[in-house]
Amino acid sequence: MAIKILSEHFNTPGIETLEVYRAKGGYRAVEKALKTMSPDEVVEEVKKSGLRGRGGAGFPTGMKWSFIDKKSGNPRYLVCNADESEPGTFKDRHLMAKSPHSLVEGMIVSSYALGANLSYIYIRGELLYVLRILEKAIAEAYAAGLLGKNIMGTGYDLDLFVTPGGGAYICGEETALIESLEGKRGNPRNKPPFPAVKGLWQNPTVVNNVETIAAVPWIVNNTGDEYAKIGIGRSTGTKLISACGHLNKPGVYEIELGVPVEEFIYSDEYCGGIWKGRKLKAVVAGGSSVPILPAELILKTANGENRLMSYESLSDGGFATGTMLGSGGFIAYDETSCIVRNTWNFSRFYHHESCGQCSPCREGTGWMEKVLHRIENGHGSMHDIDLLVDVAKKIEGNTICPLGDAAAWPVASAIRHFRHEFEWHIQHPAEATKPGAVYKPEFAAVTA
Ligand SMILES: Cc1cc2nc3c(=O)[nH]c(=O)nc-3n(C[C@H](O)[C@H](O)[C@H](O)COP(=O)(O)O)c2cc1C
Repeated sequence: MAIKILSEHFNTPGIETLEVYRAKGGYRAVEKALKTMSPDEVVEEVKKSGLRGRGGAGFPTGMKWSFIDKKSGNPRYLVCNADESEPGTFKDRHLMAKSPHSLVEGMIVSSYALGANLSYIYIRGELLYVLRILEKAIAEAYAAGLLGKNIMGTGYDLDLFVTPGGGAYICGEETALIESLEGKRGNPRNKPPFPAVKGLWQNPTVVNNVETIAAVPWIVNNTGDEYAKIGIGRSTGTKLISACGHLNKPGVYEIELGVPVEEFIYSDEYCGGIWKGRKLKAVVAGGSSVPILPAELILKTANGENRLMSYESLSDGGFATGTMLGSGGFIAYDETSCIVRNTWNFSRFYHHESCGQCSPCREGTGWMEKVLHRIENGHGSMHDIDLLVDVAKKIEGNTICPLGDAAAWPVASAIRHFRHEFEWHIQHPAEATKPGAVYKPEFAAVTA
């Protein structure tokens, strides 16, 4: 049975209450860190653990913490990113709803490590039910002296607030989130300066994902070295994967990093295979932003090695044959799925969510949506395929924040791996626009 760090108590009755959470060993990390460790020692353990940010980019957490400006003497903040709005990703809301005290405990220990006395959880506005669960957990922690002044008699003070956003995907980008938290429109900021130097209210700030912060208590309790023993290579520890699409058992799974993708899809411990006895056609492994891969490339790398659920293995081959672990939003497509329709659907999302600040993203996402719409509806021309590739290229790397890349990659990768499917839509519009019509590999001979 695989090790469970974050989800061990997800199904324990009453774990959302302080009483049960404490009875299961909760808040031991607060006691250990605040009473026996200096803030720098906590940072050091997190560095040793090799924990990487679970929000998508996979940046080493301990290193990020060590960048926070402690010299200026200005107040420091920890902000938890609970915006979680990427299609396919739904693990943070699960963690917060099931075990809210894991996040509250993580926030206390992490805030202590950073020297923050005021911290925030910025949560997606639509997750009202989770917001209420968190508010209750925070109130319980205050009442028990785990938040507020002089926590556990150690002299450390921390106030923690949970703040709902307006439900915009862009507000998950850390600098847009900070703007929104300050009460402004959620437009990403130019960097540098990075939040570690000038973040919330222009003061040093660390923004971390829910899952990243919730892993910290285990590291403090068990040491960074023990955490680093779990996982594979530089992909240490465990990861929550939200699995959806055409799977027998969609859901949120905690995996030890390094599990083969094939095992994750087909074993009964995880997704239990593709539904209705159908074949796997494609996978988006890390949330809608990452490149889509056909079944053969998600199961094996271009070198014929088993593809693993790790940062390194999923990106093996670069974008030519690989993808990214991203935020762990794993979407499986069976053989009846239409890649053109799916790509158009993703494009609609990115066009709608672009903040409009940078012209390549503002204009380009709209173009891509329109061109994909006409291909999907039987009005495309062969030139449209190259036009899409061109627009995607012109967005990528040319925007203030990575939303532009996130919009470009799904389109570019769909054309890279499923070009025949786009050609078939264009050359056989009457067939392709019939309800339920799906491209079949044997059509390749027709479009070649
Ligand atoms: C458009 C966009 C949306 C994002 N949404 C989220 C999100 O919902 N949650 C999250 O943790 N990170 C999100 N990120 C990444 C954050 O900018 C940031 O890298 C992350 O919160 C850092 O936390 P980590 O180091 O713990 O991963 C998003 C990035 C972009 C560009």
